Amino acid sequence: MTPQEEILQLRKELEQHNYNYYVLNQPTISDYDFDQMMHRLQDLEIFYPQYADPNSPTQRVGSDLNQQFQSVPHKYPMLSLANTYSADEVREFYDRVKSGLEGEDFEICCEMKYDGLSISLTYVDGQLTQAVTRGDGVRGDDVTANVRTIRSIPLKLREGSGYPHEFEIRGEILMPWTSFEALNEEREKNEEPLFANPRNAASGTLKSQKSELVAQRKLDAYLYYLLGENEPPSLFAAPCSVDFSNGCHYENLQEAQKWGFKISDGMKKCKTIDEVLEFIDYWDKERKNLPVATDGIVLKVNSIRQQRHLGYTAKSPRWAIAYKFKAERACTRLNEVTFQVGRTGAVTPVANMNPVQLAGTVVRRASLHNADIIAELDLHIGDMVYVEKGGEIIPKVVGVDKDQRTEGMQRVEFIKTCPECGAPLVRYEGEAAHYCPNDSMCPPQIKGKIEHFVSRKAMNIMTIGPEIVDDFYSRGLIHDIADLYTLTVAQISNNNKDRSISANKALSAIRESVNVPFERVVFAIGIRFVGETTAKLLARHFKSMDALAGATLEQLLEVDMVGQVIAESIIRFFHDEHNLDIVRRLREAGLQMQLSEEAMAGRTDKLAGKSIVISGVFAQHSRDEYKEMIERNGGKNVGSISKKTTFILAGDNMGPSKLEKAEKLGVPIVNEEEFLDMLK
Ligand code: IVH
Repeated sequence: MTPQEEILQLRKELEQHNYNYYVLNQPTISDYDFDQMMHRLQDLEIFYPQYADPNSPTQRVGSDLNQQFQSVPHKYPMLSLANTYSADEVREFYDRVKSGLEGEDFEICCEMKYDGLSISLTYVDGQLTQAVTRGDGVRGDDVTANVRTIRSIPLKLREGSGYPHEFEIRGEILMPWTSFEALNEEREKNEEPLFANPRNAASGTLKSQKSELVAQRKLDAYLYYLLGENEPPSLFAAPCSVDFSNGCHYENLQEAQKWGFKISDGMKKCKTIDEVLEFIDYWDKERKNLPVATDGIVLKVNSIRQQRHLGYTAKSPRWAIAYKFKAERACTRLNEVTFQVGRTGAVTPVANMNPVQLAGTVVRRASLHNADIIAELDLHIGDMVYVEKGGEIIPKVVGVDKDQRTEGMQRVEFIKTCPECGAPLVRYEGEAAHYCPNDSMCPPQIKGKIEHFVSRKAMNIMTIGPEIVDDFYSRGLIHDIADLYTLTVAQISNNNKDRSISANKALSAIRESVNVPFERVVFAIGIRFVGETTAKLLARHFKSMDALAGATLEQLLEVDMVGQVIAESIIRFFHDEHNLDIVRRLREAGLQMQLSEEAMAGRTDKLAGKSIVISGVFAQHSRDEYKEMIERNGGKNVGSISKKTTFILAGDNMGPSKLEKAEKLGVPIVNEEEFLDMLK
């Protein structure tokens, strides 16, 4: 076999395995074997770049370049569906269809209503050419680069499967529950705000400027509507379904599955209203076992001829309707409102209620979010409250049955002081939450700071997790991060021989952490608003903890990415005696309090103030190495070309649109050799 033949063969086999895994959910080989084939293909493609193909299965990793989305018109507007909420309303729809079709036989195709973001995909000659979001229904954002990283969306349709020359297919992009939960867990660890539900997470991801991030977030897609060119659009340019084999929606989608698309679970053709209602009932329960969020059932007249006959209202088709599942709701008595203090000091009110069955679990507690919501509900202790579990995981109180309220019940007041430490709470302007400002003495905040300090991206003391922090803290062994460095085996193990092995392990991880570079120490000490990147920039700018601690507001503002809020937070941190004492003890313990020799030596100001775009493929160093070089020499690596760009570091195969933009804005182009010369 020639290398070219092997490349083509591997691509074909990998496409088939992708289809088996992502579309059919029936993998036929192990992940290990799949990875082996993928690595072999990657190697071959590196050795034989002449056979590169943007649709190769290796090309789903995305890019770290910033992109801007272009707004493009939809060929046919993306309409929405009318909603119904009861069996009676579904019956009314069925009767309307029946009379609209004047006694003709008809079928209703029932399918899941997916709760994600709608997307429109265009294929020409079996290749994905464009992916556009719904936008306002008339125009949407071109998100093709991001969508290309979603494994269940075919880049190339399956050969010989009979797909039409050109068509559009619409569907929903979703983040599966498992990816959503893993993502939120990761965000919680990094103290980033959590996504409320998978739809928000999918939306935030799909709009990300970096397709590399989209590739990592593991989105999924289900397709439910085919449009084609075989009929002229109607006067309103309303979409017309494509008429391939026998002109039916259900059959068209079965075909689409053969071309490579993932379609709705459990699609079913129903003849009678009873069958339709049975389908709804079945999936109302069964949907909990699906890997993605659904919020209803969509009913569509199956025959496309009949769809056309029924037509459209101004907003939605007359041939389809959505039935929305009821968010499961229960009514129970509110016994008490307690207040929880989080790691950042944010105070969350929690409703404690009589236990009640809701969506398969017994619920005793529900979130009340903030003071405004409590006031809006005009909540009283003893109230009968409605609790719902919607798209969110945590149940929430959504209403009060005021008819059941009796005299003398006490109104719920938001607390004025912290329930953990007694400090008076504060509410920052423009924020809904109340905070406990006592970050150095309030127990959940202390534990939060220690958890952050030991976390992977900070000091990376991974033998100490949240439970151990809690244990050490409650046994009085540690009160702040510096106490970690004076722990002894006897203390940890409580003189228990069985525990001394794990105690030794914990201690050696703590000891090793004194080598963690200064940049990460700046991140680890937990200055509010100073994330990983800002910490790095601060460390490189000031070079030592002393210089950082003594910096004035003006000096801090000189650092990239540091604005008023961050600068003030840093000043506040280093004005606090307690923090200064911790930093002093960390220094005594031997932590890195200045930039290492190497970091200092490698750094210059040769590219200071320069804003540089990297584009193309390089021969001497990798793209990441160039990025690192730019930063090490005081420059800034930016994603897209603008008037402010100093120059473009260009390798081979720089994209034509970039080239054009650079020429238009007069931005100079520098090649690899010239760039390396600059740094000599
Ligand atoms: S059909 C002209 N089918 O629900 C009708 N839509 O309000 C085109 N959706 O914007 C839509 N699952 O994002 C259809 N199986 C399904 C669906 C579905 C979810 C979404 C879609 C649309 C909204 C309708």
